[in-house]
Amino acid sequence: MDHGQFLLGGTLPVNRLGFGAMRLPTGSFQGPARDPKTGIAVLRRAVELGVDHIDTAWFYRRDGVAANELIREALAPYGTDLVIATKVGPLLGPDGFPREEAGPDRLRGLVEDNLRSLGVDRLDLVYLRVGAALTVPTGESLAARFEVLAALREEGLIRHLGISNVDAAHLAEARAIAPVAAVQNSFHVQDQGDLDLLTECEEAGIAFVPYFPLGGGHRPIDATLMAEVTSRHGATAAQVALAWLLARSPSVLAIPGTGSLDHLEENMASGRIDLTPQDLITLGG
Ligand SMILES: NC(=O)c1ccc[n+]([C@@H]2O[C@H](COP(=O)([O-])OP(=O)(O)OC[C@H]3O[C@@H](n4cnc5c(N)ncnc54)[C@H](OP(=O)(O)O)[C@@H]3O)[C@@H](O)[C@H]2O)c1
Repeated sequence: MDHGQFLLGGTLPVNRLGFGAMRLPTGSFQGPARDPKTGIAVLRRAVELGVDHIDTAWFYRRDGVAANELIREALAPYGTDLVIATKVGPLLGPDGFPREEAGPDRLRGLVEDNLRSLGVDRLDLVYLRVGAALTVPTGESLAARFEVLAALREEGLIRHLGISNVDAAHLAEARAIAPVAAVQNSFHVQDQGDLDLLTECEEAGIAFVPYFPLGGGHRPIDATLMAEVTSRHGATAAQVALAWLLARSPSVLAIPGTGSLDHLEENMASGRIDLTPQDLITLGG
């Protein structure tokens, strides 16, 4: 089944099954750097398989292997239909992990790092990623930082803006400053806490882009809870998890992350799975 396209920010058509680049430099948060040649092969194959929306960040890097540089080496000069989304906000500590948040004064430099490393004059979509950790920083204002990104958009360095790791109050705060094209939060078949936010995005024409669509290793998907549906479709748990996301709302853009060619093929094949109403009831939500 073709899950069709979404018009990001009302102007950029993207296939709803995209790709997340975080796993290219390293497979796990503690893991060693991965072979850059494999990362380049994965990116080229992803585009061959129809990916036209790649989610990245300058800070996706480990021991000299960096997602943005792999993307540039694999895919530049970029096809006119390729949308590259990036994010700014977290600052890496000496251990290479996000440890603190950039203040407003640092954001231009971080946007420029992305422009340079991706080799573009303008970024298609830039998320302000709030919080240094995985918990949503409820009560923390993003206004001063989002205003800086909105000004960079006015300057022509950014086409569309997004926000990540946020709640409904953050979304309202951001929308009062500038149009929000996409929200990126943790969400998957067994982590449906943001259903209300997803509905709000759908109603407002904003893309909802789940991070950790396969559980991300943070709260991995429990395949046994999905056994009934996976066996009905002869599919893997990862494929059903992605098909569930795509069926959940026409505003969902899936960005499964992998550094493996085999997993990439498997994930892209999930676009062919057409879940039934019975499947959706079984999976919940
Ligand atoms: N905004 C944020 O704060 C934030 C946070 C996290 C991630 N992200 C973005 O969201 C994207 C997706 O999240 P994610 O990559 O962390 O998590 P994910 O897509 O939920 O899962 C990736 C993990 O699952 C494994 N995997 C991938 N395909 C698989 C398959 N078919 N079968 C079994 N295992 C599979 C990967 O290992 P292999 O690499 O070995 O396949 C990796 O360990 C990221 O790439 C990144 O672009 C954003």
